[in-house]
Amino acid sequence: MSEALDIVTPILAGNPSPFPVPAGCYALTVRDVQHYTDSLFRFRVTRPKQFRFRSGEFVMIGLPNAEKPVFRAYSVASPSWDEELEFFSIKVPDGPLTEHLQKIRPGDTVLMRKKSTGTLVNDALLPGKRVWMFSTGTGIAPFASLIRDPETYDKFDQVVLTHGCRTIAELKYGEDLVAGLREDPLVGDLVRDKLIHYTTVTREDFARQGRITDLITSGKLFADLGLPRMGPEEDRAMICGSMAMLKDTKDLCLSHGLEEGANNKPAQFVVERAFVD
Ligand SMILES: Cc1cc2nc3c(=O)[nH]c(=O)nc-3n(C[C@H](O)[C@H](O)[C@H](O)COP(=O)(O)OP(=O)(O)OC[C@H]3O[C@@H](n4cnc5c(N)ncnc54)[C@H](O)[C@@H]3O)c2cc1C
Ligand SMILES: NC(=O)c1ccc[n+]([C@@H]2O[C@H](COP(=O)([O-])OP(=O)(O)OC[C@H]3O[C@@H](n4cnc5c(N)ncnc54)[C@H](OP(=O)(O)O)[C@@H]3O)[C@@H](O)[C@H]2O)c1
Repeated sequence: MSEALDIVTPILAGNPSPFPVPAGCYALTVRDVQHYTDSLFRFRVTRPKQFRFRSGEFVMIGLPNAEKPVFRAYSVASPSWDEELEFFSIKVPDGPLTEHLQKIRPGDTVLMRKKSTGTLVNDALLPGKRVWMFSTGTGIAPFASLIRDPETYDKFDQVVLTHGCRTIAELKYGEDLVAGLREDPLVGDLVRDKLIHYTTVTREDFARQGRITDLITSGKLFADLGLPRMGPEEDRAMICGSMAMLKDTKDLCLSHGLEEGANNKPAQFVVERAFVD
């Protein structure tokens, strides 16, 4: 798509928006929306041909509903090879962005700033035997991207995605994604051989109960999977959740001997906020 084509009249809820597309933004068309719970939904939008990102990165998303729209950080949940872009979103009551974003329908316009960034990328980790992807709530989004990327399976023999939510219904996005991936022509074989999806719930009865941090501390996580405790030789980790979850999980990675890395200094684990609180 040329620069000129980015400057289209944005459409919201089927009506042309009176506001121009801000400089440095793409205007993307919503293709598909799926609601999971009162507080979670997923949407897919068109991808500009010139937009490149690394699986696991985030972008800034807004709506063409004001002269100066509200932008919020969103992890791209689709992999870098995908022709569309997918996002997995919270619905915050009275949230400046999501009170409107939750109402989008196919054909509507979503704004996206042109630059992507982030630390939850394969490049920020040293090679290892196994990567742990620790997520809670919408923190699964960057991992939804990474588990669809063949590069992740080239780099690691085992990929363990843990997803902790309050309720069983909040696990469905991840469960549907992994079930579909097992049948996927591109990564299906890799996923069946290498991906472990470990779900836990904290506020309802479920087969696996409790915070992931407690399951690491007690050793139940490792016992359930028949794996040794994490250690710096074999294990790498990526963490995405609330500030409290990041802090507690990071402390556990450190206490297991893993060192924090970054894009410019790859090491044994990396951290990114799923939201700010
Ligand atoms: C690096 C980064 C990546 C992010 N990726 C995503 C993503 O992929 N999907 C997504 O839904 N959000 C993501 N967020 C959060 C997102 O930027 C917004 O906060 C969210 O869309 C709500 O926007 P809002 O304007 O409606 O409310 P805000 O004013 O932004 O938030 C209001 C309050 O809602 C709560 N909240 C906000 N976001 C979440 C959330 N995701 N889960 C639980 N509680 C939340 C917090 O208590 C926050 O203080 C990310 C944030 C960061 C920093
Ligand atoms: N069902 C709901 O009511 C609902 C759903 C989504 C969002 N929200 C709103 O959005 C906000 C965030 O909700 P959320 O459910 O997405 O995120 P969250 O509060 O971070 O909870 C997600 C999961 O992470 C666990 N967790 C919380 N702190 C942790 C820590 N320090 N270490 C390890 N695990 C931890 C939670 O367990 P615990 O249950 O033990 O805290 C829960 O299982 C809430 O403040 C709420 O207002 C509400």
